[in-house]
Amino acid sequence: MTLSKHRVAVVTGASRGLGRAIALRLATEGCSLALTARDSAALESVVTEAKQLGTKDAIALPADLSLPDAPGEVIKHVIRHFGHIDILINNAGDTQRGDFLELSDDLHLSGFALKYHATVRFCRAAWESLEASKGCIVNISGIGAQTPDPLFSIGGPVNSALINFSKAISKRPGAPRVNVVCPGHIETDRLTHRINTFAVQNGISRTEAKQRLQNRLGLDAYGKPEDIASMVGYLCSPEAGYITGSTFIVDGGATPGI
Ligand SMILES: NC(=O)c1ccc[n+]([C@@H]2O[C@H](COP(=O)([O-])OP(=O)(O)OC[C@H]3O[C@@H](n4cnc5c(N)ncnc54)[C@H](OP(=O)(O)O)[C@@H]3O)[C@@H](O)[C@H]2O)c1
Repeated sequence: MTLSKHRVAVVTGASRGLGRAIALRLATEGCSLALTARDSAALESVVTEAKQLGTKDAIALPADLSLPDAPGEVIKHVIRHFGHIDILINNAGDTQRGDFLELSDDLHLSGFALKYHATVRFCRAAWESLEASKGCIVNISGIGAQTPDPLFSIGGPVNSALINFSKAISKRPGAPRVNVVCPGHIETDRLTHRINTFAVQNGISRTEAKQRLQNRLGLDAYGKPEDIASMVGYLCSPEAGYITGSTFIVDGGATPGI
C-alpha cells in the first residue's frame, strides 16, 4: 500500500516513541513531514531518519504544545512552508498516573492542556486546509478511555474526551476523515517509566517488574511503536477512505470488555 507522493503530514510528539514511529511510517509512504515536540535535537534526528527513508521534505518545528498559541503557530509555519496539509496526527501526551487524591489541579490542567486542548487547537488551525485537501486526522487516545483505572484518573478522562471530540468534529459537513487510535501497553519511554516505578514500589528488579506487570495485564507481550504506526498508516491511506468517526483499539487483547 503506497500513499500518493508528496502528501504533507503533521505529527505531534514526534521526537520519540509512538510519534517517531508514526513519522517514519509516513516517511516510507512518501509523505512530506512537519514534526513537532519540545526536544529540537531529537526532532532533527527523526528528520534525518525520515529523509533516509525517502521522504521528499521534512522539517522540525520545536514547541511546547501545552502553550495556547503553539499549535496555531506550528500550523501557520507548515502552511507557509508546504502550502497545505493532508494529514494531521495528534499524538503528544504526558499525563501523570497516581491516586486522584494525590494529584493536584495543576497536574490535571497540564494533562488536559497538552493532550486535549492542543489537539483541539491543532484541528481548528489545520481544519480549512484539511477540508480543502480532503485529508484526514488521527488522534492518539489510549485504552484508558474505555477502561477506567483508579491510578489513571487524568489520562483516562483525557482519552475519553478526545474520542468524544473526534466523533463530534467528524460529523461536520465536509469534514476531513477523523479517527482515533487507542494504544494499549506499548514499549516506549512512558512504559519504561511505569515499569521502573513498579519495580521501586515493589522492591523488585526491573526485569521482574516488566514480567509481573505484563502478567497482571494479561499480555503475551508488550506492543511495539510500529504496531501503532501500522494502524495509523492504514487509516491515512486511500484504502481507509470510507472510515471516519471511528475508534480503533490496538492493545494485544488487553482490554477486558467488549
Ligand atoms: N506507550 C503507550 O503504552 C501508550 C498507551 C496509550 C496511549 N499512549 C499515548 O500515545 C501518545 C504517545 O505516547 P508515547 O508512549 O510515545 O510517549 P513518550 O515516549 O513519552 O513521547 C511523548 C511525546 O510527546 C512529546 N511531548 C511531551 N510533552 C510535550 C510538550 N509539552 N510539548 C510538545 N511535545 C511534548 C514528547 O516530546 P518532547 O519531550 O521532546 O517534548 C514526545 O515526543 C501519548 O499521547 C500517550 O498518552 C501511549
